[in-house]
Order: sequence, then structure tokens, then C-alpha cells
Amino acid sequence: METMSSYHIPVMATQCIEALAITQSGVYVDATFGGGGHAKLILEDKKVKFLYAIDQDDDAIKNKWDDPRLVIINHNFRYMKHFLKYHKAIPVDGILADLGISSFQINEGTKGFSYRFNERLDMRMDKAAEIDAVYVLNEYNQEGLTSIFREFGELKNAWQLADSIVKYRAGNSLETVADLLNAIKAQTPKMGDYAFLSKVFQALRIEVNNEIGNLELFLNQCKEVLKPKGRLVIMSYHSLEDRYVKNFINTGNCEGEVKKDGFGNLIRSFIPIHKKVIVPDENELILNPRARSAKLRVAEKI
Ligand SMILES: C[S@@+](CC[C@H](N)C(=O)[O-])C[C@H]1O[C@@H](n2cnc3c(N)ncnc32)[C@H](O)[C@@H]1O
Repeated sequence: METMSSYHIPVMATQCIEALAITQSGVYVDATFGGGGHAKLILEDKKVKFLYAIDQDDDAIKNKWDDPRLVIINHNFRYMKHFLKYHKAIPVDGILADLGISSFQINEGTKGFSYRFNERLDMRMDKAAEIDAVYVLNEYNQEGLTSIFREFGELKNAWQLADSIVKYRAGNSLETVADLLNAIKAQTPKMGDYAFLSKVFQALRIEVNNEIGNLELFLNQCKEVLKPKGRLVIMSYHSLEDRYVKNFINTGNCEGEVKKDGFGNLIRSFIPIHKKVIVPDENELILNPRARSAKLRVAEKI
């Protein structure tokens, strides 16, 4: 059986727990349970009354353990408010989200999340989700594919990549990791292919799982379910996600549109706790290189 640390090492664990500022009989949400690393640490604090732990991936849910204070919700966090309402848990004292995918999801090698394993290009965290990466690669037109690689992969040669895929699929089956690597061989740099391919696969994964759309829905619900002075603790691994979180905290919307009342006061629901974004220190990066792109933002509900 997987141990928690082989499933996923929790990133900036101490900083996340401190940021939640746990209160007596507090009710908390871990929106991304994964290997349960952060959840375990939250529940180590006996002041916690309940922890509602969400994950859309059935495999992650297998990491749960017996604790009457741990309530598991095997769904997408875009429905957080609905499930918290069902459990009569609103308002809550704090919400933690550690976005993206776990080490387990990347390393298990059955869903095509990584270019290292030749699997069918599924990439769905929730196996009941409607579209998979095979669909995206075969059905999206060149403009659609270009915008995914540009926005979610931040790839300069997004148009050429999309062009290679469209040409390849016209005469070949495009279903597996090996097919995709073949399709984009001409665009893949000889040096630094690791970084390039990670971005290609990340872009497809973000699209398949509608990660940006879900994040926006989720953040707006955080506004509704947190009590005043409740804490919002979000860790992201992608600049677009981090921009959404930062904008949301500072302006109350993911677009970063500043809105003011008649007296010139900012209309927003949160105040940031720290002036600067928090990143892992060097010691953590030595122990867990996967933490390198993590950015932590903390806010308090007004
Ligand atoms: C980075 S891992 C979390 C790891 C966890 N903090 C730990 O310490 O083990 C992200 C988890 O969030 C889940 N996830 C991502 N997006 C989700 C969403 N929209 N709804 C529910 N779960 C989601 C993934 O399935 C994955 O298990």
C-alpha cells in the first residue's frame, strides 16, 4: 500500500497550517485531499471540530483514514458550497486548496499525465468527466489547440505545435503518449525536452480538467462559505492560476477589475495577510523538487 509520503509530499506544510490560524472548535475545508498530507496535519490540531476533505479522484479518496472529524467528499470542488450546505457546515473557519495534481497522479503512469509512460492520453482526474485528452487532441481545431498551448503551457511555439498535431492526426491515430511525442517531434527541443514536454502535458491536463474554470467557480464560493475573519489558503503551481488567486484576493474577482463604492473604498471580500507571495525555501526544494513552482497566498475574509 502507498504511504502518504510516497503518494504525495505535502508542500509548504508548516506555512499552510500556520496560515489557517486554526481556532477552537473550528470547521475547515481541504479542497484538494490528495494523499491527505495537509489534512493529517490539520487534524493533528485537536481544536479542529470537523475537516471536510474534497477530491474528485477516487484514488485519492482511498487515502482516507478513520477519524470522526474527517468528512470525505468525493467530488469536484466546484460544488463545494452545495456539499457544505448538505452537511450543514456553512460558515467555515478556513479553506485550504493545494491546486493541480499529486505526485501519485503523475507517477502512477496509467492516465497519460506524464510523457514518461506510454499510456492512453486520458488525463482526467475524475474518471466520469466528459472529455479526455484524446478528444482534445483529435477534435479541437488548430486555433483551439494553439490557445491551450499558449495560455496553459506558456509555450512560444504554440501555433507550430498545434499545426504539427493537426497534420499528424490527418494520417495517423493519435491516442497514446507515444503518438503525441511522435506528432510533436519536430517541435521538441533536443536540449531541455523535459521542461518543454512538461509544459505540453500540463497544458492538456489543465484543459481536460477545466482547471481554470473550476478555480474561478471555487474562489467565488469561498467568498460565500467563509465566516468573517475566516482564512483562505491557496497554493498554485501555474502563473495563470496564481494570477487568478492574487486578483481574487486583491479585487474580489479573478479578472483583477478594481471596483469601488461611492466613497472610493475598494469593494472586495478578502484582505491579503502577506504583502508578498510565499514560496518554498531551499531546504524544502532539496527534499521535494516538485515544490519548486509552488506559490502560496493567504487571505482573511472581511
Ligand atoms: C496537489 S494534490 C493535493 C495534495 C494534498 N494536499 C496532500 O498533501 O497530499 C491535488 C489534488 O487535488 C485534486 N483536485 C484537483 N482539482 C480538483 C477539483 N477541481 N476538485 C476536486 N479535487 C481536485 C487532485 O485530484 C489531487 O488529488
